[in-house]
Amino acid sequence: MRQLTLPSGHAMPVFGLGTWRMGEHLDRFQDETDLIRGALDLGITLIDTAEMYGEGGAEEVIGEAIRGRRDDLFLVSKFYPHNASRSGVVEACERSLQRLKCDCIDLYLLHWPGGIPLEQTFAGLQALQESGKIRDYGVSNFDLHDLRAIPEAYRDRLGGNQVFYNLAHREPEWAVADWCRQRGTPLMAYSPLDQGGELLKSSVIAKVAENHGASPAQIALAWLLHQPETVVIPKSARLKRIEDNLAALDIELSAGDLQDLDSAFPAPQRAVRLGMR
Ligand SMILES: NC(=O)c1ccc[n+]([C@@H]2O[C@H](COP(=O)([O-])OP(=O)(O)OC[C@H]3O[C@@H](n4cnc5c(N)ncnc54)[C@H](OP(=O)(O)O)[C@@H]3O)[C@@H](O)[C@H]2O)c1
Repeated sequence: MRQLTLPSGHAMPVFGLGTWRMGEHLDRFQDETDLIRGALDLGITLIDTAEMYGEGGAEEVIGEAIRGRRDDLFLVSKFYPHNASRSGVVEACERSLQRLKCDCIDLYLLHWPGGIPLEQTFAGLQALQESGKIRDYGVSNFDLHDLRAIPEAYRDRLGGNQVFYNLAHREPEWAVADWCRQRGTPLMAYSPLDQGGELLKSSVIAKVAENHGASPAQIALAWLLHQPETVVIPKSARLKRIEDNLAALDIELSAGDLQDLDSAFPAPQRAVRLGMR
């Protein structure tokens, strides 16, 4: 698995499994646990989750699925903005660790900007890092003005900004991507398949896919993986699709492919806000 180096010096895989909408129904617990185990067998080494997903249910599924395999994995979780006070973030992390049945989260993100002063949030994150409960910290859904509001002492240490980013939604390229790249902070592209909607029906993507003997989803992911310092975290409830999605790592898009995709899905030409799902 290709890796990026975070500002802390730790390595982070460029491909992971999303888990939104997991852990919401007890009767699916076993199937979801089996799915994650299957994904690990296929070579998935990063799992993305949040305390919000299934109100802790997704973390519980993951905790069960990764028993005995924690050491081979990079775990990302996120906390609610209303838990972002200095003590709130520490308590939220401890609850997540209990559900995940492990001692440390590799990357812990503020899920979206909220009203609690960031000085407090980052003081809590630093305390968690010093106690070894998290390895790195970062943010999610942070637009340029949100990033600029991060206290200076923490700005160069962010292990990620997780944003809505795919071929049909290139808003992060306006300003956020540059801000992050200048500091060695990866962009984590969430909803990289645009949630399996219209994007995957594009005739331009279909043509590029045909040239590579690939699927549209693989091309959408390969395009993101071609962007510098970018991590993708597609979600699928089907093991076969997880396997297909992983194969995007082996696709090299040509200059012609990139040009065709750029023409069909142009980068923003004026200031735009980040999208959010
Ligand atoms: N930080 C945030 O605010 C935030 C927000 C949204 C998401 N996320 C994270 O990002 C992850 C991914 O985003 P997402 O779940 O919103 O959307 P996504 O990964 O872009 O798309 C998931 C959808 O695409 C379908 N799909 C997956 N592989 C496919 C393939 N090869 N061909 C056709 N369809 C395919 C899935 O259906 P099947 O399941 O039926 O295969 C599912 O409906 C989430 O699970 C979550 O971990 C974070």
